[in-house]
Amino acid sequence: MTAQTSPETRSFGTSLGAEIRGVDLSRAQPPAVLKQIHAAWLDNLVLVFRNQSLSDDDLVNFSRQFGDLDMVPGWEPFSPEGHPEVLVVSNVQEDGTAIGVLGDGEASWHTDMAYIPQPPPASLLYSLEVPEIGGDTSFMNMYAALDTLPDDLRQAINGKILNHDSSHDSGGNLRPNHTMFGSLAEAPGARHPIIRTHPETGKSALFLGRRLHAWIVGEGVTKSDELLDRLWEHCTSGDLTYRHRWQKSDLLMWDNRVTMHRREHFDSSRRRVMHRTQLKGNQGVEAAR
Ligand SMILES: [Fe+2]
Repeated sequence: MTAQTSPETRSFGTSLGAEIRGVDLSRAQPPAVLKQIHAAWLDNLVLVFRNQSLSDDDLVNFSRQFGDLDMVPGWEPFSPEGHPEVLVVSNVQEDGTAIGVLGDGEASWHTDMAYIPQPPPASLLYSLEVPEIGGDTSFMNMYAALDTLPDDLRQAINGKILNHDSSHDSGGNLRPNHTMFGSLAEAPGARHPIIRTHPETGKSALFLGRRLHAWIVGEGVTKSDELLDRLWEHCTSGDLTYRHRWQKSDLLMWDNRVTMHRREHFDSSRRRVMHRTQLKGNQGVEAAR
């Protein structure tokens, strides 16, 4: 058997994102390689591994190297048989029944599950089938979003807490078993500091979750909306993103603590099938001091 050489990390030259080459993730990786991948992930926030041939077991085994895995609460029907840690993200219907979640529509900018007390630190997404066009996923660097924030805006949000609505999904749809709330202050969900310190890198980043129904705790709705609109305008108008055009057999792994992502819509007649895992949120993330 030939010894595996060290993988190569190639930055995309964008605000975030890098490709890792020279690694077959269907095989167990030596500790030194896992350490290198972990360091590259913290540095680049999004890692892309092309041309991987992964079973659900492989995906789970690789994901587990970086922490405990979360099950998929509420989405159990969309896990492959025997793999409760894997969630199918797909628009495909078989015999009139959806095989996965999130359909074919656009998913607006968001951080996964920001609306729970301990959101997942990492999400991993593996492409089994992709359309030729559409369905790209873009990522945003939230360290850079904070670093480039105008001083007055940073001062205005310093120490503030954001309420993250849990009643709507990233497509803006009311989730099953939820009813619309009366005022933003009544929105169910979790509260997190808007500026947080990454527990592993020690660097501060903006944490916005998603725009819809967000509320800065203690502010009037008008003032909160004004500040949030400015923050989102700043984030989405800058050059803070990497746009991933999917190929079959890509594995992406992103740091969910310091990125947001969005998905473009795609032709509903095209098949898109992804398998996803996420790490359990078991690390505290503190407000920046
Ligand atoms: Fe997402």
